[in-house]
Amino acid sequence: LEQVFINLLTNARDAVMNSPRKLVQIISSVGADTVTLAFLDTGPGIPEGMEKRIFDPFFTTKEVGAGTGLGLSITYGIIKEHQGTISVVNRPGQGATFLVQLPLASMDLPKESSQINPFEETP
Ligand SMILES: Nc1ncnc2c1ncn2[C@@H]1O[C@H](COP(=O)(O)OP(=O)(O)OP(=O)(O)O)[C@@H](O)[C@H]1O
Ligand SMILES: [Mg+2]
Repeated sequence: LEQVFINLLTNARDAVMNSPRKLVQIISSVGADTVTLAFLDTGPGIPEGMEKRIFDPFFTTKEVGAGTGLGLSITYGIIKEHQGTISVVNRPGQGATFLVQLPLASMDLPKESSQINPFEETP
């Protein structure tokens, strides 16, 4: 997941680089069984019609040598492995927001250990 966050934040950093307003924000919210993370930037957004291709391996709009185009495809794979989802909310000319949803781990304890009461005196 560290790799996911580095990829999304690096993209956001690159996106705001030439924008007059340089804001990168992460918003998190925890629901009953999922956590949602929003990575928001005030860069140029994704050129219209390209939203579907950005998760493809080797798709890049960066200069030769600047990007491999693998960041988002690796990110997509990692999120899938965690049974999560990733989507993009694009505002051309105003910025992009990547939404990551991940299921929370179950806190159920195994039956036997849940029956141990640490405060109970042992005979
Ligand atoms: N926050 C963003 N704002 C605007 N465009 C973006 C953003 N994130 C990704 N993109 C677009 O999606 C393309 C693919 O992103 P991806 O992270 O896969 O590759 P990259 O950043 O070009 O190269 P790499 O991550 O391998 O260094 C980018 O080249 C860019 O065109
Ligand atoms: Mg990238």
